[in-house]
Amino acid sequence: MSKQDAEKIERKGKKSREMYNEIDLDKIDINEGPPTEEPARQYYYMAKCREWVKAFEQKNGRMPKACVVNMGCQMNARDSEKLRGVLELIGYGQTESEDADFVIYNTCTVRENANNKVYGKLGALSTFKKKNPEMKIALCGCMMQEPGVVEKIRTSYRFVDLVFGTHNIYKFAELLFYAYESERMITDIWEDTDQIVEELPIERKYFFKSGVNIMFGCNNFCSYCIVPYVRGRERSRKPEDIVREIQKLTEDGVVEIMLLGQNVNSYGKNLEAPVTFAELLQKIEQIDGVKRIRFMTSHPKDLSDDLIDVMKRSKKICRHLHLPLQSGSTEILKEMNRHYTKEQYLELVDKIRGAVPDIALTTDIIVGFPGETEEDFLETMDVVRQVQFDSAFTFIYSRRTGTPAAAKENQVPKEIVRDRFDRLLEEVQKIGAKKAMRYSGKTEEVLVEEVNRQDDKLVTGRLSNNSVVHLPGDRSMIGKLVKVRLKECRGFYYLGEVLAE
Ligand code: SAH
Ligand code: SF4
Ligand code: F3S
Repeated sequence: MSKQDAEKIERKGKKSREMYNEIDLDKIDINEGPPTEEPARQYYYMAKCREWVKAFEQKNGRMPKACVVNMGCQMNARDSEKLRGVLELIGYGQTESEDADFVIYNTCTVRENANNKVYGKLGALSTFKKKNPEMKIALCGCMMQEPGVVEKIRTSYRFVDLVFGTHNIYKFAELLFYAYESERMITDIWEDTDQIVEELPIERKYFFKSGVNIMFGCNNFCSYCIVPYVRGRERSRKPEDIVREIQKLTEDGVVEIMLLGQNVNSYGKNLEAPVTFAELLQKIEQIDGVKRIRFMTSHPKDLSDDLIDVMKRSKKICRHLHLPLQSGSTEILKEMNRHYTKEQYLELVDKIRGAVPDIALTTDIIVGFPGETEEDFLETMDVVRQVQFDSAFTFIYSRRTGTPAAAKENQVPKEIVRDRFDRLLEEVQKIGAKKAMRYSGKTEEVLVEEVNRQDDKLVTGRLSNNSVVHLPGDRSMIGKLVKVRLKECRGFYYLGEVLAE
C-alpha cells in the first residue's frame, strides 16, 4: 500500500466530511422540479448527479474517479475542499492522478506564471480525454474571472466541458449536472455577488485542522493586485455562522483552525451588526475544542491595538503573524496604494513584539514594482534587516492586465529585477536560518500533522510559531498535541523528542 493510500484510509477512519444538515440524498425527490432556495437546490442537483454516477458504475463496473487540482492560495484550497465535498457525496472516488473521469483545476491568477501553468497542463489533459472520451474537464477559480480567459478557452481548448468562476462555486452541483446533460461547453461566470451560501458539504484534507472562511473578496485595490477584480467586494460571514462551523469542526476532531480572508483585519465592517476581528477572535477562543487559532492575511494598515491586546492575552492564538510588507520604500508603498509608510510598518512590528515577544513574523515582498529604484530597493532590504523576519515569500512583480500598476510606463527591466530578487532572497534566507535556531534546546508543544515523507519512523508537526519539527513516532500521533524537546535545529526545521507525560 502506498503512503498516500495509507494516509487516505487514516483520514477516512476519522470523520472529515462536514455536512451540517445531514441531508440524505436518497430522500430527495428528483422527479419534482428543483427548489429555488439555497442550499436545498444544490442538494437536489447532487441527488440528480448521483443518478449519473450510479449509471456510470453500472456501465463500467467501477466508481468514477475525480481529481481536484488546487493551484492557488489557502482560500482556493478551502474552495477545493468544497468541490471535493460535493464530488464525494455524489459518489466519486478521489484520485491525485489527472488521468481520471473528472478533472477540475481550481485556478489562481495572482501572477502571470500561474496562468501559463494552466494552459500548459490543459494540453496534457486533452491526451487523456482522447483515450477516455467520457472524461469531463472543468475549470474554475480566480483565473476564470478574467476577461479574455474564457474566450481563449472557448476557441483554443474546446475539449473543456465546464467553466465557472469564484462567485458561483456554491452552484457546482447544478453546473456539473448541466455538464453531464450537454455536449457543449457550459460556462457560467458572474461579475460579482453579495451572496454567501452556507451549509454545503466539505471534504477536508486533514481531520485535525481546517481553514475557515471568515470573509470573501477584497476592497483594498493595491495597485498591482488582481484579487479584488476576480474575488469581488469584501463580504464577511456572520459571527454566529463562523462559530457554528467551528463548533461542528471541533466535534469532528479539529483542534487547529486557520481563519481565512484577504484582509482579516477589516472583518465585520460590512455586517448589519458590525463586529471587529478582535471580537470575533475572542468568541472563537471560548470554543472548548479549539486548541490553536491561526489567521491570514493581516493588512498592516488595519491591524488594531485591540487585536494586539487580544493576541497578547490569548492562550490559543498561535505565536505567528503573517504581515505582508510588499515594499520598504514609503514612495513605492504609496504607489502600491498600501496606506502605510516604512516607519509605520516598523512601529507596528515594535508594538507587536512588545506585546508578544516570542512571535514569529513572516511577510510577502514584491520586487520590481514599476518605478522601483535602487534606493527604493535598499529601503526594502533595510526593513528586512531591521525586522528580521522568520521567513518571507518574495515575488517578482507581475504585470496584471486591468490593474493600475500595469498601465505604468516605468516598468523595471527584467535583469535589474532579477538581480534585486536574488540579493533579497539571499538576505531573507540568511536571516531565516539564524532565526530558526532560537528554539533549540527548548520544550514546546507540537501538533503532529503527518508521517514523515522521507522516513516513516518519524512524524512531522508544527510549533505554534509554525516551525516544522520532525520527531520519532507513528501515525497514531497524527492530530495530537505533544510536548517535545527541540534537540537540534537543522536549517529550517527541528529534530525533537517527545517528553514522557
Ligand atoms: N491579501 C493578501 C495577499 C494576497 S496575494 C495581502 O494583502 O497580503 C499574496 C501575495 O502575492 C501578496 O501579498 C503579494 O506579495 C503577491 N502579489 C500580489 N499581486 C502580485 C503581482 N502582481 N506581482 C507579484 N506579486 C504579487
Ligand atoms: Fe491584493 Fe491588496 Fe487585497 Fe491583498 S489586500 S488581496 S494584496 S488588493
Ligand atoms: Fe490566487 Fe485567487 Fe488566491 S488569484 S492568490 S487563488 S484569491
